[in-house]
Amino acid sequence: MLWIKALHIVFVASWFAGLLYLPRIFVNLAQVPPGSDAERQRLLLMARKLLRFTTLLAVPALALGLWLWLGYGIGRGPGNGWMHAKLGVVLLAMGYHHSCASLLRQFVASTNRRSHVWFRWFNEVPVLLLLAAVVLVVVKPF
Ligand code: HEM
Repeated sequence: MLWIKALHIVFVASWFAGLLYLPRIFVNLAQVPPGSDAERQRLLLMARKLLRFTTLLAVPALALGLWLWLGYGIGRGPGNGWMHAKLGVVLLAMGYHHSCASLLRQFVASTNRRSHVWFRWFNEVPVLLLLAAVVLVVVKPF
């Protein structure tokens, strides 16, 4: 079980590294001056590759978590409110991941209208999600 938990933590950390860096590229994309197509194409290529990689890392992160929960029964049954709250945070993280994919599509189609300031705030969301998930699973406050 400890090997599964160790791998779960490694893939979760890798998944979130992608979720934390991708919006940073969006901040730069939102600041690309009109006519700088080479820079725009370079940033779009980086974002596409990073999104693909981040998606590949999310799969084992979630699968190993499900194995701990459903396979080993950790956090199952009454008195494990922390696990239910954590699953809520996980769904939000998956929603955030999905919104990054649709924001990238808007940049590719040149239909993004959001400012770099908006993306700087958007970039803080995964920090809060990671904080919430780790506190819930380590401290188990309820
Ligand atoms: C489907 C999604 C997930 C499920 C079902 C899940 C389930 C679990 C379970 C059952 C444990 C073992 C807890 C224990 O031994 O006390 C665990 C450990 C852990 N999970 Fe997840 N997890 C998921 C996603 C995540 C995410 C998204 C994060 C972080 C953002 C995360 C962070 C952690 C950490 C840090 C531990 C180690 C806790 C410890 O050793 O005390 N997990 N997870």
